[in-house]
Amino acid sequence: MRIILLGPPGAGKGTQAKSISNKFAIPHISTGDIFRKNISEKTPLGIEAKKHIDKGHLVPDQLTIDLIKDRLNNEDCKNGFLLDGYPRTVNQGEALKTLLDEKGHSLDTALLIEIPREFILNRMTGRRVCLTCGASYHIKFNPSKVDGKCDVCGSELVQRADDAEETVSERLDIYEAQTQPLIRYYDDKKLLSVVDGTKAIDSVFESVCGILGEIEE
Ligand code: AP5
Ligand code: MG
Ligand code: ZN
Repeated sequence: MRIILLGPPGAGKGTQAKSISNKFAIPHISTGDIFRKNISEKTPLGIEAKKHIDKGHLVPDQLTIDLIKDRLNNEDCKNGFLLDGYPRTVNQGEALKTLLDEKGHSLDTALLIEIPREFILNRMTGRRVCLTCGASYHIKFNPSKVDGKCDVCGSELVQRADDAEETVSERLDIYEAQTQPLIRYYDDKKLLSVVDGTKAIDSVFESVCGILGEIEE
């Protein structure tokens, strides 16, 4: 199965992606997680990405496109993948299409987690993340079992630098301007499916499974 997840910051892409990846046995690839890992390791990619991420802006297309091209060539993507946070511009969407065409593959669906702006700030300010494995928690809606520690790998949980209120607002504006057109792009290609992201985590996952289960058949 080849799927991409769309939705504004805080929609729950990362949260749902972990469950989808387990249930459907496809690798979860999050460009945001890859950038954060590189930032914490101070690699050249991380140093460049940080300049943009800290402002709530997108990392330049070419950098992101090359990164994904490389990642999708990995052996674990042979039978499918779940992309979380890529593509997010029409340009990136076109690049993905070219890449898949070259391999004789196609996308099964672009799954949009829809959520109005007023829900988002609460989610972001209460979010805690694991920089080691990418797991994401919420102090109220999805707390870790041990306070401040990741359930999956035991690492320390931290707040994301770009979850400050002003940066969230900038990220939402960027989403409207640069990623909304991509939703139309997939809708025009009859590839878009939509779930209501305002529901509880389990109930969003149920809707997701309904859609993906049909594709798998
Ligand atoms: P990225 O890491 O992808 O951030 P994002 O798209 O802004 O999305 P988030 O990770 O903030 O939200 P999410 O939808 O994953 O929500 P989550 O599941 O954590 O990208 C970060 C930055 O990297 C970008 O701003 C950009 O600079 C750069 N970048 C990345 N990809 C790029 C690309 N392709 N091109 C250029 N630049 C790129 O949930 C949020 C919170 O809500 C959590 O606390 C969670 O526990 C909670 N929650 C989740 N679901 C529910 C629910 N149903 N009910 C209640 N709470 C919930
Ligand atoms: Mg995420
Ligand atoms: Zn972890």
